[in-house]
Amino acid sequence: MDLQVEGKTALVTGASKGIGFATAAALAAEGARLVVNARDAAGLEAAAERLRATGADVVAIAGDVSNARQIKALLAATKERAGAPDILVSNAGGPPAGAAALLDDAAWAKGYDLTLMSAVRLARGVLPAMRAAGWGRIVFVTSLSVKEPVANLTLSNAFRAGVTAFSRTLASEVAEHGVTVNAVAPGYTATERLDELFADDYARARLVATIPAKRFADPAEVASAVAYLCSVQAGYVTGQTLLVDGGVVGSTY
Ligand SMILES: NC(=O)c1ccc[n+]([C@@H]2O[C@H](COP(=O)([O-])OP(=O)(O)OC[C@H]3O[C@@H](n4cnc5c(N)ncnc54)[C@H](OP(=O)(O)O)[C@@H]3O)[C@@H](O)[C@H]2O)c1
Repeated sequence: MDLQVEGKTALVTGASKGIGFATAAALAAEGARLVVNARDAAGLEAAAERLRATGADVVAIAGDVSNARQIKALLAATKERAGAPDILVSNAGGPPAGAAALLDDAAWAKGYDLTLMSAVRLARGVLPAMRAAGWGRIVFVTSLSVKEPVANLTLSNAFRAGVTAFSRTLASEVAEHGVTVNAVAPGYTATERLDELFADDYARARLVATIPAKRFADPAEVASAVAYLCSVQAGYVTGQTLLVDGGVVGSTY
């Protein structure tokens, strides 16, 4: 299916690795002009080069999306170098693990800026131009934890629920302007984040056994869901969370 995003500008944050990189690759393959972001400039440039090698038009802008000032700079540089984004994929690294009863205020404040406010600030920043154009796509990468909290991932559980509520609320506010707002909630996906969280083979094998699909997701499988929500064809889908979890979440709704 041609997603009809050729020539559109897509800003993908957290895009040097994992799900973000796979998403940038999926949108680039559909002919979108990419602006990719991550903190480490060298790693980001290497990722951008890999995308350019496929013929994609890619601008790399380093910055930390947990920092309000750096988000402003990222959005200004995006506008200057590639035009106002038609598509935003808001993604970053996950917040650190920690027990609900033990995390201190400093950890909560960091998680708030990284996971909740990055989504809010990026969306607020791109919306005026999308509304003016009468077309836009915003997709937040969240987690299956929005449906079922994951033990010890307190900050992810709490703040991604916030992103989901923000996404749902914003979706209704902007629908009449041709802007859709959705989330993709990945399950366990084979990336560096998963390697960090489940470092030993025994823990990984136990985790895989709990997944009905009996394997981790390939980042490209999550990226395909994001790319669909960025398409022209998904224009009437808004306020939704699309789970890509191999069947882990077992609830009916
Ligand atoms: N993998 C899974 O199983 C899984 C499951 C559910 C949800 N998720 C969530 O999905 C998201 C992506 O996961 P992933 O597995 O693809 O992670 P990953 O492999 O660790 O990649 C994270 C990407 O985000 C960038 N990044 C991290 N912090 C950033 C920041 N503050 N500002 C800008 N860029 C930042 C990283 O580059 P730099 O380090 O250079 O910044 C990297 O490009 C995370 O929020 C994760 O929690 C993942």
